[in-house]
Amino acid sequence: MHMIAIGCDHGGYQLKQEIIKYLEEQNIAYKDYGCYDEASVDYPVYAKKVANAVASKEAEKGILICGTGIGISIAANKVKGVRAALCHDCFSAQATREHNDANIVAMGARVIGPGLAVKIVDIFLHTPFSNDERHVRRIAQIEE
Ligand code: RB5
Repeated sequence: MHMIAIGCDHGGYQLKQEIIKYLEEQNIAYKDYGCYDEASVDYPVYAKKVANAVASKEAEKGILICGTGIGISIAANKVKGVRAALCHDCFSAQATREHNDANIVAMGARVIGPGLAVKIVDIFLHTPFSNDERHVRRIAQIEE
């Protein structure tokens, strides 16, 4: 697996540390785009750092965490070529890879716990895109 970009705001900092622990245990290469402590910051800054890394193909996929996962996913989706999926369940994590070829998973640290979050990341990173014609067509329409 190529490099994974990870980022968060202050609301997601603790959960990001849990996800990083998982990535290290799995020997998955990653780059941490911050933030690096729980001081209050603005989530669009970190959303764009990770989104740009993914859009430029510097990173294969991205992981973004804020309090709800909502603000950081909205901001990431403004970057062309990014498909950031807010996932708080395993079914969505699998489906968004198979159907949307999502390249960023976003989660809310105030919504789910670390056990489920790590499972979602694991599914997200290891589920391939289906490559079905209808899904390829629909993804192309997003970019039009
Ligand atoms: C920060 O307090 C909070 O607004 C942020 O983490 C996120 O939930 C925004 O969508």
